[in-house]
Amino acid sequence: MMELTVTGLHASHGRTPALFGVDLSITEGGSCCVLGRNGVGKTSLMNAIMGVLPTREGTVTLDGRDITRMPPWERVRLGLGYIPQERTGFAHLTVAENLRVVLETRPGAKRSDVDDVLDLFPRLKPLLKRAAGFLSGGQRQQLAIARALLTKPKILLLDEPTEGIQPSIVAEIEEAIVAFHDRDGLGILLAEQYVEMALRMAERYIVLEAGQVVSAGATAELSAEDAGKLLAI
Ligand SMILES: Nc1ncnc2c1ncn2[C@@H]1O[C@H](COP(=O)(O)OP(=O)(O)O)[C@@H](O)[C@H]1O
Ligand SMILES: [Mg+2]
Repeated sequence: MMELTVTGLHASHGRTPALFGVDLSITEGGSCCVLGRNGVGKTSLMNAIMGVLPTREGTVTLDGRDITRMPPWERVRLGLGYIPQERTGFAHLTVAENLRVVLETRPGAKRSDVDDVLDLFPRLKPLLKRAAGFLSGGQRQQLAIARALLTKPKILLLDEPTEGIQPSIVAEIEEAIVAFHDRDGLGILLAEQYVEMALRMAERYIVLEAGQVVSAGATAELSAEDAGKLLAI
């Protein structure tokens, strides 16, 4: 069982500190959501875990191994998947090509892996020949998630996957991620402002305020009153 642990993490944008001693842990098959308003440090946390934003102090470990200074691509190879807030993908390549780019980079990948992710996002099937730049926001997000899943991560980091996306597609995205979580034991770290969904999807939560964890716990143990407070974030 793979475990990702973040201990006392400090990170800055240049001279401006963004995270002040964040602790967090998540196991393969587990799930945690990171809640908090705009600007509290959710994206900085995701980027620091992936090695996109340098860590100033503290450690990130994966299965007990210190990966704090490891470059992002090695973290991906070890089993961390990432869907950044700005949805990735190549606008000029078709949907099929975007999926293939990822598939070809993973030794042992099978064509059937693509069918597998397309079954989760059937909306993408008739769009395989379309350039990704012509997709709607929701379709692009589904493509971004499909691409991340093709790397066969053990733990997937999603940064506000539902931001600016129409409700019907949000429901499909939730369903697909939960399916991977339940079926393949995919671990999930989800930054969200859509608190209701995040609490539904994740077993644990942390709340960030100004770069610090101000509360944390199990979502199942939240009283109605505490859940209400989180919903008001
Ligand atoms: N590239 C950057 N350069 C300087 N400051 C940044 C940069 N990105 C984010 N910040 C600042 O870091 C803080 C945390 O931002 P961010 O991690 O994006 O929060 P969130 O994802 O919760 O909205 C904010 O004060 C933001 O203004
Ligand atoms: Mg953000």
